[in-house]
Amino acid sequence: MASVLATPPAGSDLQAIPCSGRNSSLEIMSMRRDPFGFADRRRAQFGNVSGLNAFGVQMVMTGNPRAAQELLMNKDRAFANGPAWSYFIGPFFNRGVMLLDFDEHRHHRQILQQAFGTTALKGYLQEMQPMIAERVAEFPVGSVKLFDQFKALTLDLALEVFLGLNLPRDEADRINKAFIDTVRAGVAYVRKPVPGGRWWKGLRSRKVLEEFFYANIAAKRARETPDLFSVLCHAETDEGHSFADEDVVNHMIFVLMAAHDTSTITMTQMAYNMAKHPEWQDRARAESLELGPELGYDALAGMTALDLVMKESLRLCPPVPAQPRMAVKDTSIEGFYVPEGTIVTTSSLSSHRDPEFFTNPDMFDPERFGPERAEDKSHRFAWMPFGGGVHKCIGLYFGQMEIKTIMHHLLRGYEWSVPADYVLPMDYSALPVPKDRLPVTLRRR
Ligand code: HEM
Repeated sequence: MASVLATPPAGSDLQAIPCSGRNSSLEIMSMRRDPFGFADRRRAQFGNVSGLNAFGVQMVMTGNPRAAQELLMNKDRAFANGPAWSYFIGPFFNRGVMLLDFDEHRHHRQILQQAFGTTALKGYLQEMQPMIAERVAEFPVGSVKLFDQFKALTLDLALEVFLGLNLPRDEADRINKAFIDTVRAGVAYVRKPVPGGRWWKGLRSRKVLEEFFYANIAAKRARETPDLFSVLCHAETDEGHSFADEDVVNHMIFVLMAAHDTSTITMTQMAYNMAKHPEWQDRARAESLELGPELGYDALAGMTALDLVMKESLRLCPPVPAQPRMAVKDTSIEGFYVPEGTIVTTSSLSSHRDPEFFTNPDMFDPERFGPERAEDKSHRFAWMPFGGGVHKCIGLYFGQMEIKTIMHHLLRGYEWSVPADYVLPMDYSALPVPKDRLPVTLRRR
C-alpha cells in the first residue's frame, strides 16, 4: 500500500514523496539482496524519488544523475554529511573528514589535501612500487581467490604508505583485523553493543585503532617522514592552523578505512571483467609489457586499455554504491518536499545503469568511455564512482595509481581465467564484495 513520506506545507508547489507502507526491515533486506531489482521495482511503482521508513528514520531514495547533482552540489546548504553517514558508520569513524560539514569540513579538508598533491603522490608511488612488485610476484598459482590477494596487499600497502611504520607481521594483522571489524560493524542489523555482536566488535576495534595511533603520534611529531601520518602531524594551513592529536587520529582511522576496501573492490571487478573478456586482458597486457617493469608516475596516463577497463568496472560496480545526506532544514529534491531530519540518498549503482545516459547499460563495454562516445560526459553526474561536490573523494588519484600499479604487475607476470559460464556472485549488504572472493585460475607467464 502506498502512502506519502510527509505532506508539503499548505500553499507549496512541491510534491509529496511516495512511500511504501511495507515493513522497513523487509525493504532494507530486499535492497541488500538485490539492489538492481529493488531499484527497478521502486522506479516502476513510485518513479525516480521514493521514501521508506528505515528503523525509525525517514529515508528518501534517488538514483539518477540529476538528483545526484542536486544533492551533492548542495547549493543552499540544506544537506549535511555528518548526521547521515553517522547513522551508518558514526561510532566507528567518528569525525573522519567525510563526516564533517560546511566550514569545519573545508578547514580540515584543506589540511588533508596536502597529503594528496602530485609531489606526495609521486613519493607514495616510489614507496609502493617495490613492495607491489615483490608481493605480486609471490602470488600463489593455480586456483586462487583474487579478492583475498588484493585485500591483503592493499591493507599492507595502506599501513606502509600511510603509516610509514615497519610493523611486525602479528601487529599488522591485529591492526588490519581491527579495520575489518569496524567496517563490518556499520551494516550490523543489531545496532547495539551486544557482547560478541558486530556492533560491539566494531566499538572494541575502534578502541584498538585509537590506542595504536595515539601510541605512535609523539614519534611522528618529532620527525618528518614521507607518509600520511607524518604529513597530518606537520601540515599547516597558510594561516598556521594544524591538527590536534585527536584530529590526526580520527583522520588516520577514516582515511585508512576509505583507502583499502574501495581499491580492493575495484581491482576484483577489473580482474573479473578481464577474465570474462580476455581480449581486454590481452590489450591491457600488451600496454604493460611495452611500458617495462617499473611504472613511472607519468606513464599511468598512457595505460589506455586499463583505464577504460577501470572506468567500466567502476561504472558497473561502484565500490561506494550510494551517498547519504541529511536535510538540516526543510528543503526539496527534484521538486519533492523533504522535511528536516530526512536522510536522502543518491545511488550511483542506479545512475550508472540509467539508459538515458549509457547505451546497453548492463553490458561490459569499456569503449563507451573512449573519445568518440564519451558516455561518462553525457551528464556531469552520469559517471560518479568518486562522488561529487565538496566531499568528492580526496583519494581518487591515489586510488587509481595504486590500482593501475598492482594491475600492471599482475598483467606482466600472470594470465588468469574463469569458466565461460561463471558469474561473480555479489554481496551488496555493505560495500559490494564477491561472496566467493573471485576464484580464478592463475598461471605464471
Ligand atoms: C576506487 C577507489 C575509491 C572509490 C571508488 C572511492 C569513492 C569515494 C566516494 C564515492 C566518496 C564520497 C562519499 C560521499 O560524498 O558521501 C569518497 C570520499 C572519500 N574518499 Fe574515496 N574512494 C576510493 C579510494 C579512496 C582512497 C584510496 C582514499 C585515500 C587514500 C580515499 C579517501 C577518501 C576520503 C578521505 C573521502 C572523504 C572526502 C571528504 O569528505 O571530503 N578514497 N570516496
